[in-house]
Amino acid sequence: MSDKIKIGVVGCAGRGGSFLNTFNIHPQTTLHALCDINEEGLHERGVQMGVEHLYTDFEQMLDESGVDAVIIGTPMPLHAPQSIAALERGIHVLCEVPATVTVEESKALVQAANSSNATYMMAENYTYMRPNVLVRALAEKGLFGQVYFGEGEYLHELKELNEVTVWRRKWQTGINGCTYGTHSLGPVLQWMDERVVSVMSVGSGHHYRDPRGDLYENEDSVLMLCRMSGGGLVKIRVDMLSDRPHNMTYYALQGTDGVYEAARGLQDEPKIWLRELHGDKPTWHPLSELEDDFMPDIWKNPPEEALQAGHGGGDYFEIMDFVEAIVTGTPPPVDIHSAMDMTLPGLVSQQSIAEQSVWLDVPDSRGW
Ligand SMILES: NC(=O)c1ccc[n+]([C@@H]2O[C@H](COP(=O)([O-])OP(=O)(O)OC[C@H]3O[C@@H](n4cnc5c(N)ncnc54)[C@H](O)[C@@H]3O)[C@@H](O)[C@H]2O)c1
Repeated sequence: MSDKIKIGVVGCAGRGGSFLNTFNIHPQTTLHALCDINEEGLHERGVQMGVEHLYTDFEQMLDESGVDAVIIGTPMPLHAPQSIAALERGIHVLCEVPATVTVEESKALVQAANSSNATYMMAENYTYMRPNVLVRALAEKGLFGQVYFGEGEYLHELKELNEVTVWRRKWQTGINGCTYGTHSLGPVLQWMDERVVSVMSVGSGHHYRDPRGDLYENEDSVLMLCRMSGGGLVKIRVDMLSDRPHNMTYYALQGTDGVYEAARGLQDEPKIWLRELHGDKPTWHPLSELEDDFMPDIWKNPPEEALQAGHGGGDYFEIMDFVEAIVTGTPPPVDIHSAMDMTLPGLVSQQSIAEQSVWLDVPDSRGW
């Protein structure tokens, strides 16, 4: 009998499918069961990966297949209910972003994670991208001094994708506010090592219509200003509607002794100034110059599988950390409270924008 961790993947015909190869080659896991309501896609994946345990019903997979852990790659409104169903059965969860779609279900998810012996991790893969990992290492060394400002932007026009993955038309572009903010906020939260205590959200207006002629409920560019627990400010911008080239990975960080700005546009590259390394006169230096001395091991010699995985290797490294957390019984990097720190500001932003952009407190899930 194999003592490998038996993995089940739900949403395997969509996003969940991106994780299959890594689990298949990981020495401590075995791809055991797949689930999707798209029967054709499910069977295709089953044949492709040689997996026999196929389900169209998630709870049936949990109850009958004998999986130890599930990967949830289904549409956003299913993340919390499916995570809770697994955690209640003592089954480990790696769930796509965001963790939840309402504050109420966030409370239920936190309760389920707190009451379960199983591991919960949110799959915030942008925190594993190469430049983001290096900036985190520099920030952890205190090289930015007292950090007081950060930025994150997710500019990804998806009007066409809305019509294919129709849940997006409701949950990402059918609600006003920062509906998909964890990719932008997640890395910045790790760099600042603080949480968001209050948010205010405002939008740029409505300039696009869907193929039926209806205006999108979400404004084109939505800003979420975040007051941080240390007193500083973070600005998040999410734009999933504007006709413009993509930039899903713009970030910035500023402190009393250093500044970082990610790449914008064709000729640009990630750049940095750190007083201790570059002298008192602020001048830009390529971030890449600091790789030899400061890059954490995971990105020093990344395996070929990481380079082939999606989202700049993030899809690979998050799986490594999830399995490590299960095997060692230690909290994963994006545990339930980090997941809430990344998810709740965006949910509260939706209330802020509905109330003419008032500042609203963001609950701390550690008190729930
Ligand atoms: N982290 C990232 O970089 C990243 C990238 C893409 C998508 N996502 C997230 O992944 C999730 C899925 O996105 P997508 O683009 O793959 O969407 P999708 O609609 O293409 O895929 C979702 C899959 O879930 C299946 N599904 C729907 N309801 C189900 C149910 N009740 N039981 C079982 N299967 C069900 C669908 O048939 C589909 O195959 C979303 O939450 C999205 O935000 C994250």
